[in-house]
Amino acid sequence: MNILITGAKGQIGTELVPFLGRSYPDSQIFSTDIDTLDVTDASKVDQFIGDNSISQVFHLAALLSGVGERSPRKTFDVNLLGSLNILEASRDRGVLQVFIPSSIAVFGRDYPRDNTPNDTVLRPLSMYGVTKVAGEVLHEYYTSRYGLDVRSLRFPGILSSRGKPGGGTTDYAIHMLAQAAQGEPNFVSFLKQGTRLPFLHIDDVLEGIVTFMNAPREHLSRRVYNVTGFSAAPEDFMFAIQKHGNPISVTYEPDFRQAIADQWPRSINDTRARKDWGWRSQLDLEETTLRLLKDFSEDL
Ligand SMILES: NC(=O)c1ccc[n+]([C@@H]2O[C@H](COP(=O)([O-])OP(=O)(O)OC[C@H]3O[C@@H](n4cnc5c(N)ncnc54)[C@H](O)[C@@H]3O)[C@@H](O)[C@H]2O)c1
Repeated sequence: MNILITGAKGQIGTELVPFLGRSYPDSQIFSTDIDTLDVTDASKVDQFIGDNSISQVFHLAALLSGVGERSPRKTFDVNLLGSLNILEASRDRGVLQVFIPSSIAVFGRDYPRDNTPNDTVLRPLSMYGVTKVAGEVLHEYYTSRYGLDVRSLRFPGILSSRGKPGGGTTDYAIHMLAQAAQGEPNFVSFLKQGTRLPFLHIDDVLEGIVTFMNAPREHLSRRVYNVTGFSAAPEDFMFAIQKHGNPISVTYEPDFRQAIADQWPRSINDTRARKDWGWRSQLDLEETTLRLLKDFSEDL
């Protein structure tokens, strides 16, 4: 099987590329990013997929929430037109499966912010959220209209140490953990105290993606699923870090990302994913903190 990964140099791609290599040792993996395959270039995307007989695509190229609000037009082009180019080329060239991440940014107004269900009102206020909702609908269209097997997970804030975070609203947690591990005790959070958001450790993300993509098609009652690990606010990370013996104190200087976080769920209900294809997250706040502090201190 020939696998294409777009946006492979990003936070998820940096870890997904070696993980897929281990999960599918007989496959050839084509790892691309903007320097090798710009997803906004429809003809290059089509040619790449055709020339390399790609049968599975992991489409990770995107601009994230924080970056997105600085350049809404560009975010529309990369996130939405990029996905359209991938989907068009995929159906045209006989690709079997496409994975495109969605996000908790699909929620915005008029929905339950606690234990947010899979199926609820999607009225985002950020351009990033707009592209994710439109993307979800587009994926479903390509599945129902053309039979292309497009699958999507709504990720919360992803916590990892190897891939650099790309400018999302939950990135503060990674910066806090990295700083604490490197012995810098004064952290300034761009989200205010009490801003509780859902998170997921990268190891759960990687296992989840492969389990989901391997799930029999007939088991999936949805094309898009909520998934989550645990919910935490900045002070929860601070206490967890202190518990492991790393001194850290946090001051709060909220910026424009606070408005984005205030629209997002405080916690997510992922029962549908658990029932349909056996989703389970393994790592809670405690274990995630422990692993990341260890990773970041080894980087010194
Ligand atoms: N990281 C998170 O916390 C998180 C949470 C929810 C959803 N997601 C989604 O997961 C996917 C991957 O996220 P990530 O965290 O790895 O993002 P990232 O910002 O770390 O990486 C995205 C990559 O896309 C590349 N890229 C940008 N424009 C491109 C273009 N025109 N053509 C090709 N490549 C381009 C960038 O160079 C970068 O390497 C995205 O769809 C994102 O919305 C991520």
